[in-house]
Amino acid sequence: MEQPGQPRQEHWPHPPVTAHRQAVTEEESRRANGPDWDRYADEYQATHGDFLGDIGFVWGPEGLTEAEAGILGELEGRDVLEVGSGAGQCSRWIRSVGGRAYGLDLSARQLQHSLRIDEATGVAVPSVRGTATALPFADATFDVVFCAFGALQFVADIEQAVAETARVLRPGGRFAFSITHPTRWMFPDDPTEEGLTASQSYWDRTPYVELDDVTGEIAYVEHHRTLGDWVSLLAGAGFRLTTLLEPEWPEEHDRLWGGWSAVRGRVTPGTAIFGADLLAD
Ligand SMILES: C[S@@+](CC[C@H](N)C(=O)[O-])C[C@H]1O[C@@H](n2cnc3c(N)ncnc32)[C@H](O)[C@@H]1O
Repeated sequence: MEQPGQPRQEHWPHPPVTAHRQAVTEEESRRANGPDWDRYADEYQATHGDFLGDIGFVWGPEGLTEAEAGILGELEGRDVLEVGSGAGQCSRWIRSVGGRAYGLDLSARQLQHSLRIDEATGVAVPSVRGTATALPFADATFDVVFCAFGALQFVADIEQAVAETARVLRPGGRFAFSITHPTRWMFPDDPTEEGLTASQSYWDRTPYVELDDVTGEIAYVEHHRTLGDWVSLLAGAGFRLTTLLEPEWPEEHDRLWGGWSAVRGRVTPGTAIFGADLLAD
């Protein structure tokens, strides 16, 4: 996410775009973000693949791993779905510790990278192309559903995405996800000191949108919900919230990832990780 009015640096090849805030539908979000991730996938994997690890579960730019955090609970022998699975690194790690993990992603190119790493590592993550708001699985199929920066902040109809998660989970099942920390939406998406001065309302939920300068079409969308919105969403879909982790920036960690950096990370949280249990009826 870039500051409205600034060109986006990280996506290449990417059409020239202008960023601003406007209302968008679920259909518009999906139509923009699928092709955007197809364009971006090669660069994303080239830039972040080593950090993520082919068989590795990192929750966000701070580098907190699931092995350290244990947010998902027991994984051995469990049926697990990763929504917005990208190249499947997290699911591959779950497979390596005995879980039956499956991937789902909107981007065909991200799924091609997943297949490439399956073949290179010999640890395959069966994956399907789809969207978080219409999961192609029967009711009560999984023990765990999770997203590591996958899907949720790209979806307009978040009630539907959370309801779909609840539907495919077994009673008592676990749901965990990481997102850009909601408080980050107050700041310019700038990794330097400039990104530490609040300039926008935390409560403004108007989506961040990039418009293609040539066609005028919506080329990329991200959605913001406050911390309170997430609590209501989870409770409303029958979840009991158990965990909200705000990983601190490690002392020696000097990674730069979009707006995430040591400069900002030492002062303000960049990632929020929620964990919740689906209540039995
Ligand atoms: C930041 S990447 C995270 C991927 C992976 N979890 C990782 O850590 O690299 C976000 C992923 O969400 C996917 N995505 C975006 N919108 C989606 C949607 N509506 N349904 C499913 N996946 C979606 C994108 O294609 C992309 O692969």
